[in-house]
Amino acid sequence: MIRVVGACFWEMKVVRISELKSNVGEKVTVRGWLYNYRSSGSLKFLQLRDGSGFVQAVLVQDEVEAEVWDKSEGISLECSLTVIGEVSEHPKKPGVFELQVRDMEIVGESPEFPIGKKEHGPDFLLSQRHLWVRSQSQWAVLRLRDRIMMAMHEYLHNEGFIKTDSPIFTPNACEGTTDLFAVDYFDQGEAYLSQSGQLYLEAMIASVGRCYDFGPVFRAEKSVTRRHLTEFWMMDAEAAFVEHDENMDIQEGLVKYVVAECLKHCEKEFEILERDVEPLKKIVEKPFERLTYTEAIKVLHENGSDIKHGEDLGNDDEGLLTKNSDVPVFIHKWPKEIKPFYMKIDPENPELALNSDLIATEGGGEIAGGSERAVDYEALREKIKEEGLNLEDFDWYLDARKYGSVPHSGFGFGLERMVRWISGVKHIRECIPFPRMVNRVRP
Ligand code: 4AD
Repeated sequence: MIRVVGACFWEMKVVRISELKSNVGEKVTVRGWLYNYRSSGSLKFLQLRDGSGFVQAVLVQDEVEAEVWDKSEGISLECSLTVIGEVSEHPKKPGVFELQVRDMEIVGESPEFPIGKKEHGPDFLLSQRHLWVRSQSQWAVLRLRDRIMMAMHEYLHNEGFIKTDSPIFTPNACEGTTDLFAVDYFDQGEAYLSQSGQLYLEAMIASVGRCYDFGPVFRAEKSVTRRHLTEFWMMDAEAAFVEHDENMDIQEGLVKYVVAECLKHCEKEFEILERDVEPLKKIVEKPFERLTYTEAIKVLHENGSDIKHGEDLGNDDEGLLTKNSDVPVFIHKWPKEIKPFYMKIDPENPELALNSDLIATEGGGEIAGGSERAVDYEALREKIKEEGLNLEDFDWYLDARKYGSVPHSGFGFGLERMVRWISGVKHIRECIPFPRMVNRVRP
């Protein structure tokens, strides 16, 4: 985008750094922040960032007015700048552009920026998260996150899903009562922050057929791991007349599409993160594996795990199950006892639920969970009672089974789990702008 600012002196084409390649040989204005700089005698190299990219601006004392050189003496790390310069292509690095500075202004000073070049511990960086987001690696993660979201929206719309969204204040639990954040809700008693919008989507399919929501959800479990946040972004999708196998097909298509889009658009981001993209390329090319829970337990035992049939998979188990696989693995048909009330029971084995967890490669862990849903009104009502849940809170949910019940399935993707896996970043706290964890709610 090209704009013109001010008058006379500042009357200059303003360009974003990402647009410099189309302006070689021209004099332009770039506005951004100074993320690094060095000087040697009569030369200064200013590393600028404007959100769209990064560029080096070269200031030669002999080539600018004395006043411009004087202004440049006032720069410091992370000050904001307007720079006028001539765009040139780097003589030795084709595709890399530079600015030969002709004039500059400091827009906002930045005395003693707290994050320097030296190594900082994670606690310090997290308490400076509002400033840490300016670093190149965090920029790259945020951009990947954005691309993943865009790709999810695109894929789902291509597959006929409509975004309907679900409330955050809810009267009941979706995933289990122990993991709820309760809030006082006027004279209505307690409300809970949503764990997943799924139950609402199950009502919405009778209107739009296929739908999804996307928003923050909350888990009060005290899990202190590299994969757990207390507030994360979930994309829940739900589709009428879709059964268990097709539910996994849709998830597989979604993951392939998202990874392909990231590979297509995020070359620079992967480079900054030093993410080897070869394993990601295989995700797009090959079909995903599908193992039943029972088969998975067998594989785990063969690999030395002491997990018992009926237990949930731990981080190490997930790692073992994917260690020899180039592609994510669906673990499906779990014992119904360890799964929520809303899942359909396998007609071929009443002990199992028709559900799946999708485990990513390279230690990415579980990125999605889904199931075909229970549709029988009486059976579902009994299940809700058995779980000790308050039936009155679920009367609206049961109505979907009373009036035109249909086979249907859905799943939920944890956005930050996807970001962590695709970016290769070790800890989920870097995969959301302002992480909320058991031990952190600031800044
Ligand atoms: O497996 P979950 O709990 O499934 C549900 O909530 C279903 N109601 C979804 C549905 O069928 N519509 O969560 C789904 C995904 C997980 O696979 C994981 O990716 C992510 O949400 N997730 C978390 N991400 C970050 N921090 C946490 N504490 C998470 N818990 C789940």
